[in-house]
Amino acid sequence: MSEARVVELGSGDSDWLLGAAGARPEVKFVGVELRGPAVTRARRRAADLPNLELIEGDGVTWLREHVPDRSLSELHVYHPQPYLDPAEARFGMLSPAFFYDARRALQSSGTLIVQTDHPAYGRYLGALMSQCFQVTTLPGPWPDAPTGRTRREQHAMHKGLAVTRLFGPPREYAEARAEPRPWFDPDRPGQRRVRRR
Ligand SMILES: C[S@@+](CC[C@H](N)C(=O)[O-])C[C@H]1O[C@@H](n2cnc3c(N)ncnc32)[C@H](O)[C@@H]1O
Repeated sequence: MSEARVVELGSGDSDWLLGAAGARPEVKFVGVELRGPAVTRARRRAADLPNLELIEGDGVTWLREHVPDRSLSELHVYHPQPYLDPAEARFGMLSPAFFYDARRALQSSGTLIVQTDHPAYGRYLGALMSQCFQVTTLPGPWPDAPTGRTRREQHAMHKGLAVTRLFGPPREYAEARAEPRPWFDPDRPGQRRVRRR
């Protein structure tokens, strides 16, 4: 069990990974998370799960530099933060380039799962993802987790926020790479000042 098969980027407290790795002990899971304290806490909870590796670092770079072509069966990204401000863009995980790299890393039968509780960001991510994935939008919660797979999803559902859940396999042929400027407003109305450029 040396190579990662199922990966979550930005795994936060790793609730979904802990449950999934426990349920599928024959599969190697990897989570990559920027925040060290969250990784430390999750490692403690994962002590009895030899098939789960938790890495502290930038998931996008890790995917690009450490994951061989066509090696993953699943790649999960739950509730990445939307950043539009160029000064903050480096914190954003899901650029157009990310989706091309995700396609490279996934087996042809593999699946990319992306979800957000920011509806406009969800539409933007769906457009980017569909350049190189056949995208399906799940009409409701995940059947295996009716109250939410991750902590952020559970929080969003508790607050009554609409969650956009996108998934699908890589396209055999990706569209020519386009880099549309984000059109969504990353601020939630009423929570933060709207930036205008
Ligand atoms: C809103 S939280 C969601 C956490 C978890 N996926 C969930 O749904 O509960 C987004 C997480 O992504 C992490 N993150 C942001 N950019 C990242 C990157 N480039 N690499 C790894 N983690 C990142 C953040 O530190 C944060 O824990």
